[in-house]
Amino acid sequence: MKQKVSKKFEELYGEGAQLFTSPGRINLIGEHTDYNGGFVFPGAVDKGIVAAIRLNGTDRVNAYALDLGEQTSFGLNEEDKPSEGWACYIFGVCREMQKRGGKIGGFDTVFSGDVPLGAGMSSSAALESTYAYALNELFHCNIDKFELAKVGQSTEHNYCGVNCGIMDQFASVFGKAGCLMRLDCRSLEYVYFPFDPEAHGYKLLLVDSRVKHELVDSPYNKRRQSCERVVATMQKKHPHVQFLRDADLTMLEEVAPELSQEDYKRARFVIGEVRRVLDVCDALERNDYETVGKKMYETHWGLSKDYEVSCVELDFLAEVAKACGVTGSRIMGGGFGGCTINLVKKELYDDFVATVKSKFAAEYGHEPKIYDVVISDGSRRLE
Ligand code: GLA
Repeated sequence: MKQKVSKKFEELYGEGAQLFTSPGRINLIGEHTDYNGGFVFPGAVDKGIVAAIRLNGTDRVNAYALDLGEQTSFGLNEEDKPSEGWACYIFGVCREMQKRGGKIGGFDTVFSGDVPLGAGMSSSAALESTYAYALNELFHCNIDKFELAKVGQSTEHNYCGVNCGIMDQFASVFGKAGCLMRLDCRSLEYVYFPFDPEAHGYKLLLVDSRVKHELVDSPYNKRRQSCERVVATMQKKHPHVQFLRDADLTMLEEVAPELSQEDYKRARFVIGEVRRVLDVCDALERNDYETVGKKMYETHWGLSKDYEVSCVELDFLAEVAKACGVTGSRIMGGGFGGCTINLVKKELYDDFVATVKSKFAAEYGHEPKIYDVVISDGSRRLE
């Protein structure tokens, strides 16, 4: 990818570019907990975005998306928002850096990526983090890494229409090879957890359904609104509840009569999920991978039945995994398509991969893709 991007840059803009990269992420457990002030447990992967960038001394950005073969040019004022979706991420990052005092000028850039799109591995966060990290260095903005993650998140909020939490951008910026990160999304305190399932006889793999159900009325933002309504209802009795993270099931039962059945179920999932992250971290410290796997299935069915962000294809994948004796399997990321993440005993790996491919293809007409997880470093400059 490095060579491809450099070559294209030279072709379009000449010599002297610098290369930067940021990864996509997996999440072992802790889904839809980030915007509820809870815990997540992600790690960066060996798939990401690579960008070549050179300042051009003007007030315009010229950008080329190598994988799409599309080029665009835009200014750096609010009214200059480009029409291409992909360019809005770069534009958004520039604007958010400016809002934080960064003196961002024009630059030329080419980028490419190998994070599968729509797979729930945060290709968009990889793109945002790449530019946030690079522009911070190239324009000497002195913005710290936490704020760089927030630049990406605000880009989603203000320029891409997704009211996401902080997990993806954090994981992309702070990733560390061989480590998962347990992040408290309220305080942003985090701990690196060395994670080496192979040493204990397990492998972690993603099964990508290659389906993406684009739902028109932004179901992600709606989930978030449900959670906020439940918090507002609880606050009447429990003023200290700022996020669902602060609530327990007793409090939920108390306010249940005032909630819609739907909001009730959403909150029930989140309250359980925040707990599950901590349980999984404890289990990992004991090398108790069976408990980790059990919790992963709980998350899957909670996301499916209570949070309702699954789809038939993902439920099918989790069921096939269970039938194959896979230790843990669940939807990863926002939902509505994409991957399951699977914890499988080494001796079952080949069998599971063959079975899930053939069963899925028989049911849905195409094979899922399989990715082995390699936990890798976060945002950085490339030599
Ligand atoms: C998407 C969002 C994240 C997080 C996950 C669900 O990836 O970008 O902030 O909410 O969904 O855990």
